[in-house]
Amino acid sequence: MANTENRGGFGGKLAAILAAAGSAIGLGNIWRFPYITSENGGGAFILIYLGCILFLGLPLLIAEFAVGHNTKKNPIDAFATIKRGWGWLGAMGLISVTLIMGYYFVIAGWTLNYTIASATDAIGSDFGGFFHNFTTGTWMPLIFAYLFIFANHFIITGGVQGGIEKASKIMMPLLFAILIALAIYSLWMPAGREALANVFTPDFSMVTGKSFLAAMGQAFFTLSIGMGAMLIYGSYFKDGTKIAGTAISVVSLDTIVALMAAVIIFSAGVENESGPQLAFVAMPKVFSTMPMGGVWSTLFFLLLGLAALSSTISMHEAVTSYFVEKRGMSRRKGAWVVTIIALVLATAASLSLGDWSGFTIGGMNIFSLLDNFTSIVMLPLLGILTAVFVGWIWKKEDMRKELTAEGGVDKATYPVIRFLLRYVCPVLVSVVFIFGIVDFIKTL
Ligand code: PHE
Repeated sequence: MANTENRGGFGGKLAAILAAAGSAIGLGNIWRFPYITSENGGGAFILIYLGCILFLGLPLLIAEFAVGHNTKKNPIDAFATIKRGWGWLGAMGLISVTLIMGYYFVIAGWTLNYTIASATDAIGSDFGGFFHNFTTGTWMPLIFAYLFIFANHFIITGGVQGGIEKASKIMMPLLFAILIALAIYSLWMPAGREALANVFTPDFSMVTGKSFLAAMGQAFFTLSIGMGAMLIYGSYFKDGTKIAGTAISVVSLDTIVALMAAVIIFSAGVENESGPQLAFVAMPKVFSTMPMGGVWSTLFFLLLGLAALSSTISMHEAVTSYFVEKRGMSRRKGAWVVTIIALVLATAASLSLGDWSGFTIGGMNIFSLLDNFTSIVMLPLLGILTAVFVGWIWKKEDMRKELTAEGGVDKATYPVIRFLLRYVCPVLVSVVFIFGIVDFIKTL
């Protein structure tokens, strides 16, 4: 039984931009981008990344919005409506985003604990020890992940306008305000400016084939490409919302936030620390030496938490829409199913860092499996398939109409987007994907 009546939608253009920017701006920008950048040669990597965003990410985001907006359906029905027999592409995205939720909620839970611990001055002076004890513990990380999942559940059951839109309108301005305050503060630190110059000076000797895979993966991840999240938001755009304009706003905001996060983190002088611990170990350490460090540390983790929340609601919504529209469930019931799946996966991912760390496949625990499988295999694959679908499978005339009539793409720009989707995306992403897989297998 399909339940597509009264599916709801965003009230206007600003809501569309804020919600989609909320999906894009997440842990990917503030937690992942800075450490990936420092591992791959700083400024040189950023240049490659910006290329990926512009030539691959932007056209794909436009494509995904267009599929959603054109059909006004959940990801599976959206693809199947445009071309019969293609619903599996939507399903692949939803499975991937479900797996991402598994580990993403765990890190999101950490941000909550760190916000509280910073505010109450409970981190102490052994920053690495605090991180290790907390993340490998049994109950504490689970409780925080669960709290985060329930916050999501609450927003999702509020509906598209009453939940997602309302939450985005509160969270996003707050997020930008904190980000700007932190950026001003960090640039004002003299030591910071020097460290910053070092990081942004391109060092091409550190760029390898792998850097291209990392840059592309990061571009897709940060723009939530191929996962159904942007598609479902596109399906909620009010008539008259320009797809291309919205996509450009989202990409710009997302890029600005990633660069500002890099400025904040590197200007704190932590460019030598790398890996996922950058935000959780190095940052509290730096803050502890600064005047009013506790306040800034609290703000920093609050920022991470807000970014994570606005992203996870888009993941949750994409999967919920499937249970509501394809399985005929009420919104409340559909949301519960997704919440329960998220609780189970997050439990496994969190425990895999501690109690269950003995269980590994190919040397990876459940947490890394979820992360690596989705980012190395699924993201590029979904990128290629989405480009092929929109560029080759979607009837040329229908796609042109969607993009130029309602979508706000002018006649001169349209052929460029079509060319990027038909040729550049599939070819480039395939090349990088194959090299990435080969490289990855070698490391196993
Ligand atoms: N774009 C989000 C981030 O940067 C992650 C995300 C992936 C959100 C897939 C939705 C879907 O953190």
